[in-house]
Amino acid sequence: MTDTLNITPQSRDQPPPIVNSGLFFGRFLFSFTKLGYQAHGGSQSFSYPQLLGKNIMITGATGGIGAAIADLCTRNGARVYGIGRNAEKLDAIARRLSPQPGDFIPLKADFSKADEIKNLIQQMTQNGIKIDALINNVGILNHRYQQTADGHDLMYAVNLLNPYRLTEG
Ligand SMILES: NC(=O)c1ccc[n+]([C@@H]2O[C@H](COP(=O)([O-])OP(=O)(O)OC[C@H]3O[C@@H](n4cnc5c(N)ncnc54)[C@H](OP(=O)(O)O)[C@@H]3O)[C@@H](O)[C@H]2O)c1
Repeated sequence: MTDTLNITPQSRDQPPPIVNSGLFFGRFLFSFTKLGYQAHGGSQSFSYPQLLGKNIMITGATGGIGAAIADLCTRNGARVYGIGRNAEKLDAIARRLSPQPGDFIPLKADFSKADEIKNLIQQMTQNGIKIDALINNVGILNHRYQQTADGHDLMYAVNLLNPYRLTEG
């Protein structure tokens, strides 16, 4: 019994597979750029009436994706509790989103510090604020080991441990 591999030889007229892949995926590249996003209507092309009046908490709200989610939620009438570690960036987003039908409430907290997250939870509980949806968006990519004041790896604390504490709270 002989096993034969039925491999069709690459025709000389065919472009190499890498070129074929480039041509295939290249068609979608523009849509993933800022210009492409705007050409497709940006966040205005998404309408979510079910967000109206909802309390949405977004971590990393000063970053690219977090700010875009905050924009979309406030545009649809939600009250966004946006968490960031930089007060100026938070205020700038609050100003930018102020014409929207929803609200953006800036909350300053650093996810590398457990006590700041505990304070934040306490603040929300004391004020009786009920969150309908929490978007754990905060995230960093650290290429070297860095320890937080609490003795944890910085990336572990920011990406997992303190978002977990916030979710539990
Ligand atoms: N962009 C992508 O292609 C991509 C792909 C896969 C996954 N993601 C994930 O998606 C999420 C958002 O991505 P992005 O591109 O929007 O990232 P980004 O622009 O770098 O934003 C990250 C956000 O996290 C905040 N942050 C960082 N360290 C913090 C800390 N210690 N305490 C509080 N806030 C802190 C940043 O605040 P500052 O403004 O103060 O720095 C910023 O608001 C991340 O988790 C990322 O890993 C992104």
